[in-house]
Amino acid sequence: MEDLHGKKAIVTGAAQGLGLAMVEGLCEYGVKVCIIDISPNLQQVIEELRHKGYEVEGVYGDLSQLDQLTGIFTKSMDLLDGKLDILVNNAGIHKPMPAVDLPVEDFQRIIDVNVTAVFQICRLAASRMKQRGKIINIASVLATQGGFNASAYSTSKGAVAQLTKSLSNEWAKEGINVNAIAPGYYNTELNRFILNDEERFASLVNRIPAGRFGNPEELAGTVQFLASNKSDYINGVMIPVDGGFLGR
Ligand SMILES: NC(=O)c1ccc[n+]([C@@H]2O[C@H](COP(=O)([O-])OP(=O)(O)OC[C@H]3O[C@@H](n4cnc5c(N)ncnc54)[C@H](O)[C@@H]3O)[C@@H](O)[C@H]2O)c1
Repeated sequence: MEDLHGKKAIVTGAAQGLGLAMVEGLCEYGVKVCIIDISPNLQQVIEELRHKGYEVEGVYGDLSQLDQLTGIFTKSMDLLDGKLDILVNNAGIHKPMPAVDLPVEDFQRIIDVNVTAVFQICRLAASRMKQRGKIINIASVLATQGGFNASAYSTSKGAVAQLTKSLSNEWAKEGINVNAIAPGYYNTELNRFILNDEERFASLVNRIPAGRFGNPEELAGTVQFLASNKSDYINGVMIPVDGGFLGR
């Protein structure tokens, strides 16, 4: 992945969890990253990453505020000196709840963050990536399955998978690779409700051929690969990184 050295990237929702591990994976190879996140811990996370010798910037921004996306993106581009090679749309939210109880406002917010913001940031990024660029959208195994108490979330991730193919069809000829990753089940805050539910956790682990939840660092390799020139002829795919979950 030597070709990654000196590249510039935006990673959304990377103040913790899978996004943070992706940032570290890119920084290891000399990528300069700007994190967009709503977390109050953002500045502290950036300082910790800089302490490790990584080149990292941060923009505090709420991706559910669709009218602010252009401003958030422009600020990030300024911090990257106007150059963008890699975009990872990682930020995503979930509200596990029976469909009949889920307020429509929450459904809409999940669609706004998980889909509409991804669409808009992809377009802003593509306009800066003429001739070469890598866009990596973080979907989920629930892009292909309905999940349970996950109506908004699975709808949104199915849309991310389709959006990835659609944008790939439009932009592959311009040298922009648009691909997705479908993580399985990982040890992150997003899954706190499962990790705290012994019975549900056990039944899920039982269904994962690898026999365990993934650790965030285990996603970094696929992000490095999709960001590098080793994946130049890969367009519009969704790669599961799921311990075998989807194959079962
Ligand atoms: N953890 C898993 O098992 C798993 C499985 C499949 C897919 N995913 C997907 O991977 C991505 C990362 O998941 P995670 O487990 O690391 O989640 P997480 O909840 O641990 O972290 C999400 C990050 O996104 C940020 N964020 C949330 N809403 C935001 C907003 N409106 N604007 C800006 N930033 C916002 C949060 O502050 C946080 O830093 C998500 O898209 C998620 O759907 C996760």
